[in-house]
Amino acid sequence: PNKCAIFDLDGVLVDTAKYHYLAWKELAEKLGFEFTLEHNEMLKGVSRMTSLDILLDVGNMKDSFTEEEKVKMATEKNNRYVEYISNIDESEILDGALSLLQELKNKGIKIALGSASKNAQIILKNVGIKSYFDVIVDGNSVSKAKPDPEVFTLGADTLGVSYEECVVFEDSQAGLEAAKIAGMLAIGVGQEKDLTKADVVYSSLEDFDIERYF
Ligand code: BG6
Ligand code: MG
Repeated sequence: PNKCAIFDLDGVLVDTAKYHYLAWKELAEKLGFEFTLEHNEMLKGVSRMTSLDILLDVGNMKDSFTEEEKVKMATEKNNRYVEYISNIDESEILDGALSLLQELKNKGIKIALGSASKNAQIILKNVGIKSYFDVIVDGNSVSKAKPDPEVFTLGADTLGVSYEECVVFEDSQAGLEAAKIAGMLAIGVGQEKDLTKADVVYSSLEDFDIERYF
């Protein structure tokens, strides 16, 4: 039986993926190229600096900047993103997320966050779901980014549950791959065509059948 649910944050519990996209798109436009929603799929679940490298590659500007300039660009993007998320509230919680968290709590299932974001704490606080989590692992607590499984295994280790007893909810290929490497069940949240690494895909957490997995 599964004992632990591990949630990615952006795009799974809260509708913040769109703000990441807007902030990156603004940077691309400043640099003079277009950054589409399709390009954006490659950035989901990926750390801030790696995201920048992928974006610059899209614009054929991969080797055009020094490390210092890149840090400046990433900081600019993050400042813009933080502006977007600074005023968000519970209306940004995605469909089905709140009731799933509540049902898992009622069943005594451990709940972990496994997010690449360094802004996870402020988001959880602003939308009011921080108290559901038994452990929070985010971009500040890990040294290796998804698809490395550290962001999920650290949560499981902290809670003392084995990896085979964990179910991961993810909207990114990098995150699903990380879950599989760890030996965890990988639930994709989104479109099947984007999430080929998932064990099973749900278009929304609303459709997730809790009795089947917990
Ligand atoms: C992930 C997002 O959750 O966090 C990525 O899917 C983002 O788009 C990454 O780049 C890092 O987030 P942040 O907030 O630390 O820049
Ligand atoms: Mg995500």
